[in-house]
Amino acid sequence: MSDPVKRKTLLDMRKLHDSGEKIAMLTCYDASFAALLESAGVDSLLVGDSLGMVVQGRDLPIAVTLDDMVYHTTCVARASRAAFIVSDMPFGSSQISPQDTFANAARLLAAGAQMVKIEGGVEMAPTIEFLSNRGIPVCAHVGLTPQSANVFGGFRVQGRSPEDAERILASTKALESAGAHILLMEGVPRVLADTVCKSVKIPTIGIGASPACSGQVLVVYDALDISPGRKARFVRNFMNGASTVQAAVSAYVSAVKDGSFPAAEHCY
Ligand code: KIV
Repeated sequence: MSDPVKRKTLLDMRKLHDSGEKIAMLTCYDASFAALLESAGVDSLLVGDSLGMVVQGRDLPIAVTLDDMVYHTTCVARASRAAFIVSDMPFGSSQISPQDTFANAARLLAAGAQMVKIEGGVEMAPTIEFLSNRGIPVCAHVGLTPQSANVFGGFRVQGRSPEDAERILASTKALESAGAHILLMEGVPRVLADTVCKSVKIPTIGIGASPACSGQVLVVYDALDISPGRKARFVRNFMNGASTVQAAVSAYVSAVKDGSFPAAEHCY
């Protein structure tokens, strides 16, 4: 009889962080990709609200609903057996009372997520504390948070000025103190990401941040060069030199694990 596959947990993410082995995460929105990505060695699947752009064809993730996220989380969880599953709380589902946010997050956990991701800074600390004290682990997403693109005036790198960098750094410390279990940094200068990595103890996941992060994530359609149009600086096309999608994903996992991705050219 073959060994049953054991699903990775938050504890496994913590162990990877503590041992210095990088965490390889990719976004995932459906069953076929879930099976393929984890068979290629991806540690964690992020059911990201980037599905609003790459699946639904929108310009922003703002219109993605909680029902959409529950549906895609269910599709991913049904086909996945080993990866640690994180689901995004879409715009409007967490910028409310902690109690209502808990009820929304509970729907994602019931759909198969093991952790929810919440965008925002220090203002989200009370909500994150409420959730993590009641059994819902939270990944706090700071920096270029796409749900705030209307405030930023587009998808713009955050934390470039000393004041902005200080604000983001202070937020990361507050979110860790509030009980966030993982910190995701997107679109921030490398020097700021390096400082954050030194100042928090929880695992950090980077996208357009720094190779010093405990792990990396990319939108899978970007990594496989499926998304049309101009790519962000932090994207690398892993289909280059790969003869199959599986080989490209394995190349991504290897490059994250051996520290060759992201390179300096992928950082700000
Ligand atoms: O929604 C998403 O895919 C994300 C990643 C880009 C981090 O939040």
